[in-house]
Amino acid sequence: MKTNASWGGRFSEGPKEAVAAYTESESYDRALAFQDIRASKAHARMLARQGVLSSADADELVRGLDLVAKEIAEGTFVWKRELEDVHMNIEARLTELVGDVGKRLHTGRSRNDQVGLTYRLFVSDALAEWQRLLLKLCERFVDRASEHADHILPGCTHLQPAQPVSLAHHLLAYAFMFRRDYQRIADTLKRVRISPLGAAALAGTTYPLDPESVAREVGFADIYRNSMDAVSDRDFVLEALFDGSVIMTHLSRFCEEIILWANPNFGFVKLSDGYSTGSSIMPQKKNPDVAELMRGKTGRVDGALMGLLTVVKGLPLAYNRDLQEDKEGFMDASHTVMTSLSVMEGMLSELGFNTKRMEEACSRGFLNATEMADYLVGKGVPFREAHHITGHAVALAEQRGTGLEELSLEDFRSLDARIDEGIYPVLDCHAAVRRRETPGGTGPKSVQAQIALLRSWMREQA
Ligand code: ARG
Repeated sequence: MKTNASWGGRFSEGPKEAVAAYTESESYDRALAFQDIRASKAHARMLARQGVLSSADADELVRGLDLVAKEIAEGTFVWKRELEDVHMNIEARLTELVGDVGKRLHTGRSRNDQVGLTYRLFVSDALAEWQRLLLKLCERFVDRASEHADHILPGCTHLQPAQPVSLAHHLLAYAFMFRRDYQRIADTLKRVRISPLGAAALAGTTYPLDPESVAREVGFADIYRNSMDAVSDRDFVLEALFDGSVIMTHLSRFCEEIILWANPNFGFVKLSDGYSTGSSIMPQKKNPDVAELMRGKTGRVDGALMGLLTVVKGLPLAYNRDLQEDKEGFMDASHTVMTSLSVMEGMLSELGFNTKRMEEACSRGFLNATEMADYLVGKGVPFREAHHITGHAVALAEQRGTGLEELSLEDFRSLDARIDEGIYPVLDCHAAVRRRETPGGTGPKSVQAQIALLRSWMREQA
């Protein structure tokens, strides 16, 4: 193979065919083309401002880079695998288009700080898109929640019936998870949006560069403070992947609930045809494949995070080629996060809630036992004792095969004489929900407050 034009000066022979194929990244890092061009334009303009290049040369470089961008956007750009990566492909084409001045672009820069800035721009753009999708999903949860403020279902702990909650309250729990995911990304972005350009290969450079102005031009808030750290740091990708893992984890939890709720034994939800599949052998089946697949795809995002942690863990300073392995995992994870968020948004919009089944389920599992205990406390019984008496009531109802509310007053009085007919309204599950107005509780006022809080937060982000 021919030697590489950009670093082949000291080589008499190029890399072996198989080695070139093994080491290239063009096949996937071409996705970074527009970010690379943005960074290069900012670099060229800065070089002119600093008197390192003439303004005419910088203008010509910017013009040429715009032409390259146009070719890439229109699909006429010819990618060359032998040029290794996106950076060298773009620079080579630039030089074809504008002539020798193209060879001046790399002044005061190394591919190490170049890829650092390019990739930070790419991750930053991806995270902004994750945020946009998170906001949309959060909005959908709030919309669906506000339709169901008056519907109740069994709230569970240990997946066992615990206390009744409103369906709105249940759905809003997810809205708050996705809001935190959004906020977590906002925090990550503070560390992603730091420009490493100017660090050069590892030690800085002799040219009088102005890295701050490059950062400003690409919309970043800050620059690196140590050139060796700048070119070898990938914790901004690790953080982004962690954020992605948490998003997938939250999606996966809801998927798990959809899968359970779609089982006829629960029968709480009906999947729309567009978001379920049939079986090739069992004609009655309507399977929650979409939710299952999303739950499964969580694994690949977690895998990407573990993969990159492992890539970075043993690296001496500064840049090492291992770092080229920072991209495919993130790209796959980012695609997975984005498609999952948007598919979930659609699935949730069309999810049919069987509120009648949910309400019926509240009559099983003694969800109102806490109400009885609290009622006794109201009669002056210490809570521990109230708990004990209620336990006896549950055992009695269980023996009779009824709910607590179906026990007679005599039954209740046999357990504790302080009980009167006032207990019956207390045992109503709707009443149980209505009474829980502590901050963040499932009571209707609290739920409205949650909706209002989320809506005003969403307006602020938009
Ligand atoms: N494609 C390379 C990467 O992503 C670009 C940096 C190459 N630098 C080098 N010194 N070989 O890491």
